[in-house]
Amino acid sequence: MALAPSIKAFLDGQGIGYETYCAEGSGSPSAVAKAAGADRTRLVRALLLHDASGPVVAVVPAASLVDFGALRRKLGRDLEPAPGRLAQERFPDCQPMSVPAVTAPYGIETILAEQVYGLDPVYFEAGRPGCLIRVSGEGFRALHAGSRTAAFTHPLARLREPDVQAFVDSGNPERGGWVRDLLPYREMDHRLQEARQRLPAIPTTLHHLLALRELPSTSGSDVTAVIERDPSVAGAVIRYARAPCFNYLGTVDSVSTAVEQVLGPGRAVDAALAFALSDRCQNPVKGPLGGYSFWRHVFYAALISRRLAREVPGKLGVDPHQAFVAGLLHDCGYMAMAQSLRPEFYLLNQILSANPDLPVPLVEQRVLGVSHTRMGGWLLEGWAVPEAVAVAAREHHNESYSGRHSGYAGLVLVVDHILRSLGDGDAVSTEAPRGMLRALGLEQAAVDRAVHEVMEQAECHDRVAHELAGE
Ligand SMILES: [Fe+2]
Ligand SMILES: [Fe+2]
Repeated sequence: MALAPSIKAFLDGQGIGYETYCAEGSGSPSAVAKAAGADRTRLVRALLLHDASGPVVAVVPAASLVDFGALRRKLGRDLEPAPGRLAQERFPDCQPMSVPAVTAPYGIETILAEQVYGLDPVYFEAGRPGCLIRVSGEGFRALHAGSRTAAFTHPLARLREPDVQAFVDSGNPERGGWVRDLLPYREMDHRLQEARQRLPAIPTTLHHLLALRELPSTSGSDVTAVIERDPSVAGAVIRYARAPCFNYLGTVDSVSTAVEQVLGPGRAVDAALAFALSDRCQNPVKGPLGGYSFWRHVFYAALISRRLAREVPGKLGVDPHQAFVAGLLHDCGYMAMAQSLRPEFYLLNQILSANPDLPVPLVEQRVLGVSHTRMGGWLLEGWAVPEAVAVAAREHHNESYSGRHSGYAGLVLVVDHILRSLGDGDAVSTEAPRGMLRALGLEQAAVDRAVHEVMEQAECHDRVAHELAGE
């Protein structure tokens, strides 16, 4: 069924006509709207908010930002996004985490953004991700006869206004005005400490693979044994080894063939680490910080870091496989944010979707009050990964870092800039800082050679990135 039973019964009872559109799989509402040929400016979404007085559903245009400051002023309530389990409790016949835009059957106080009131027709999700309902504007207003209406959203396009950039550049939160009101919290520090308690645990196979790296020597059969224990990772490693870029002429039908005949133990562990990570840690958004964009970025960061590490003079002690892990995990702070600071993560992803040229560290620092490097450092501290890997996650946007393991942090910083120059990632500029290249003993020609070598196999790597993104 394309909509939750109680919403269907309510629509039928009210005599309100509707049409349904469903896409294969569980597409995002805007992907379903696009596939259905619907005008996406008429798509609305619902958010479940709450405070000590109870829950409130806000129904807003899909491409808009919620102004929590305006909600505070209009309702006199300190609302913030509710945890997913509350949605499950309040909408028991909807799919988990799904908040329907028709709430009367559930008896929850609802507030409609003013812009929603004038739409005709209206498209919305009704408890079944992957399906949209279309009703007339009049019908939608009738469904919300008991809801309040107020102005409390901004169109995403406002993020392109010059004053947002001025605010971001000024570094003065007091000048934030409406931008600061996009965040529901006044007490960010307290919220951060809470978030730190909710960070996800290290995936078991990732832990075992990293432990393998710590052993003085590792054979192909040791690697095979660890990978075989995780069927999902084992399947992904076998599929990876079958890729044409490895030019293996035989049949790859087991982990041991993949490890010992095709990839070699070192590269097999690298690949398995990436699959083990992605199997457990997906960011629940599409956009620059989730899905294919995210996994492509970190996988290429890992590959280029590994290749470039071979060009770094031996005295700096940068190991190529450790560099691979550092590249793979350098942006894991986004995963940490996605798990434990969902509204901030969602907002950051929205801001970056609307403004791909904004420097991420500045937006984080001055709009959100939290950075992915800080979150990544915390996450990896808890995961007890090698210190060099945690340092790279914490310092890869810090050009002046010169402490322990600065070789890894510097290498990942350079790689982030290289990827930015290729149109991808979260570095602040497209040019790697010259001082950093010098400190790593890297000539531009060596950098170009390494990047060229990795990009020559782009088709193969892109396939892996799709697999990592679960596509
Ligand atoms: Fe980053
Ligand atoms: Fe990055």
